[in-house]
Amino acid sequence: MHPALRALSTSVLSASLLFTATLPLQAAPKTTPTAANAAHPPGTAIASAHALATDAGLEMIRAGGNAFDAAVAVSAALAVVEPISSGIGGGGFFLLHDAKSGKDIFVDARETAPASATPAAFLDEKGELNRDRATNGPWSAGIPGLPAALVHVAKKYGRLPLKTSLQPAIRIAREGFEIYPRLERGYGSRRQVMERYRGTREVFLADGTPPTAGEILKQPDLARTLELLAEKGFDGFYRGEVASKLLAAVKEEGGQWRADELTGYRVKEREPLRFQYRDWAITTAPPPSSGGVAIAEMLQMLSGWDLPKLDAAQRTHLIAEAMRRAFRDRTIYLGDPDFVKMPLARLTSPDYAAGLRATIHPSKATPSDLLPGQPAPLEDDETTHFSIIDANGNRVSVTQTVNLLYGSGMVVPGTGVLLNNEMDDFALRPGTPNAFGVMGFAANAPEPGKRMLSSMTPSFIESKDKIAVVGAPGGSRIITEVLLGILGYDWGLDAQGVAALPRIHHQWMPDVISAEKGALDAETVAALEAMGHKVNAGENPWGNLQTVSWDKRSNTLEAGTDPRNPVGKAAVVESAPAR
Ligand code: GLY
Repeated sequence: MHPALRALSTSVLSASLLFTATLPLQAAPKTTPTAANAAHPPGTAIASAHALATDAGLEMIRAGGNAFDAAVAVSAALAVVEPISSGIGGGGFFLLHDAKSGKDIFVDARETAPASATPAAFLDEKGELNRDRATNGPWSAGIPGLPAALVHVAKKYGRLPLKTSLQPAIRIAREGFEIYPRLERGYGSRRQVMERYRGTREVFLADGTPPTAGEILKQPDLARTLELLAEKGFDGFYRGEVASKLLAAVKEEGGQWRADELTGYRVKEREPLRFQYRDWAITTAPPPSSGGVAIAEMLQMLSGWDLPKLDAAQRTHLIAEAMRRAFRDRTIYLGDPDFVKMPLARLTSPDYAAGLRATIHPSKATPSDLLPGQPAPLEDDETTHFSIIDANGNRVSVTQTVNLLYGSGMVVPGTGVLLNNEMDDFALRPGTPNAFGVMGFAANAPEPGKRMLSSMTPSFIESKDKIAVVGAPGGSRIITEVLLGILGYDWGLDAQGVAALPRIHHQWMPDVISAEKGALDAETVAALEAMGHKVNAGENPWGNLQTVSWDKRSNTLEAGTDPRNPVGKAAVVESAPAR
């Protein structure tokens, strides 16, 4: 492999990457190029959570496609090989950079609420949240957005026909792929729900036994649905045979969707959110993602300190305090911009961040000061992310999801479509935490056609010499994973170092710093506790960050895949710009 092309992959967290010890204790140097920066990358870099999906993207590049064709292929392939995380019964956000026009585009393919999904529909007779309805079966599902996104991105930005870019996914669905331990484990934890549904049993119990690692999973109905999408575009999913089966299955299981809610679904192109952090121009997800706003708040608060120069306890304290404040604002203010007015200019302004920064005591935790919330469950398997840079300099950052493990658990018979359970991302009962332990109020209450608030934060960061694409799954922990990813680049880590960086998380409620096992040493934990923090220092690793970067000065591409996920693949190949 050419030395300018680096795809790194490690299978274990290296001791040298402990959160407390990893920081190159100098900030990344401000470089002054001696030669002109390269005009375009020397090839293509793709990082995704499954090798077959990364390979599907590379296949499009070899066929003369660009990063957007590769994105369609990777997205659809992940929908086949990671039903635990995302799928065409779900939604996602596509952040694109079109090198030719220089434009950044945010394609919002978030699911929408059906009209039947009123707040009252999710309460039991005592007025409590009906958690079964919120997270399992047809009531938990929003109208899917991912199929519309695949059609939109292929048509508007791709060079290849959808029939070509969906081909790898169709092939993998038909021929099958090897089940890996994460799929088996996730099935085990969701099987009681999943096996309620005939369509789910037909896919996952086809041979009479639950999916087991090493076996081949074939999804012929899903292959056929993808073929219809490839042949007919939007109408292949939202009208006709597939739509009729979706409506019938939702009805049969006691839910209510209308045909016009499917035919009326549209992706929305929105202006990405932009702000500056030190030397980096950040381009990230606007609402209905909460991630971009939270990242803007956190980084602008943190810009008041030279983090690498601080000791580990001090640094962790400040990062956790920034997280706490951003998550409070997420809870109170954010929702679907088409339905709620949000003080976005204020929340993302450096002055507002400076005000919040002033409330952070240098050596004392600020209590979150509300009723204790629920501990957030660990989410390493829900949702998925991939990152691409091609030889033209096009960039793609996509996070897509069906929400919790295997979404609603319900596969629509005859289609292979596993419905999401994204309705739980709404504040279905004001002030009651959802499955991620995050709460919300009126701004994120369900309404017909409204998009539920998301944490998905596909992002680009760009300095004078470097461009990186970052994103991750993990429910509410997405936001803090991406924050740490951006800080990792700022601290001078390479792409693989960024993916491997040990993680900490604070989300205001519950008022606790979560840390991966080994991320904080005993001394740091003791110092944080002395400041008044509650610290869960021994949590299992979480997240699945996928990132690629291009150093324009050395004209080097890198790709990094999260070592916590052994089936991911980061690839860098030589390729010429697509013409
Ligand atoms: N379903 C996870 C998210 O969108 O935040």
